[in-house]
Amino acid sequence: MKHPIVIAIDGTSASGKSTNAKLVAKAIGFVYVDTGAMYRTLAWYCHKNKINVDDPKVVAATCRKWKTSLECVHNHVHLLVDGYHPAKEIRTAETSAAVSHIAAYPKVRDWMKKTQRDCIRFGNLVMEGRDIGTNVFPETDYKFYLDAKLEERSRRRSADGVEENLAARDQRDSQRAAAPLMIALGAKVINNSHMTSEQTSGLLIADLKQRLGL
Ligand code: DC
Repeated sequence: MKHPIVIAIDGTSASGKSTNAKLVAKAIGFVYVDTGAMYRTLAWYCHKNKINVDDPKVVAATCRKWKTSLECVHNHVHLLVDGYHPAKEIRTAETSAAVSHIAAYPKVRDWMKKTQRDCIRFGNLVMEGRDIGTNVFPETDYKFYLDAKLEERSRRRSADGVEENLAARDQRDSQRAAAPLMIALGAKVINNSHMTSEQTSGLLIADLKQRLGL
């Protein structure tokens, strides 16, 4: 069997990764994977079970013990805990505040990488995150890096009803020692501060259709 193809879409918070990755996946018929949602699921689970997110050892032990599974519904991959998909719960302010702390722990990142690589069992993927092109699937030839001006990204988050200190989160995501946010070698960089999601995804889809011969 041919090895599944992975499209890696990395970038800063609120740079349009989710919206564009979903549009790209739909246009080319690939399965969509939101890796940020997986980190958020762990942050939510810790919060729910009163696990101290400031203690890397306890959080690493949680990764070894929690009962998770992957499912693919309507071409979107979900991480379930105890058979439950916490779609809404992972978007709360508490989860957002905790997530980049736990995402800095190397043992957490190892667990996530293994789980994310496992997703190829569902077929060709469009996977979005912070380290997909650099760390999770460094071997893929299809890498994109999205970014936009901080003011524009903050405006997008507020429009979604979420007030968040994006500058602080960017800093934590790019300055951690383990798989920090950075532009993968060979990634196509798109700054979409002045672009709509149709324009951004249009660029990606055109590029991929040409390279994949679709
Ligand atoms: O994309 P998001 O806002 O849902 O991501 C939540 C957090 O998870 C974010 O602070 C960075 C982290 N993350 C990561 O470190 N690596 C990934 N591949 C995806 C997300």
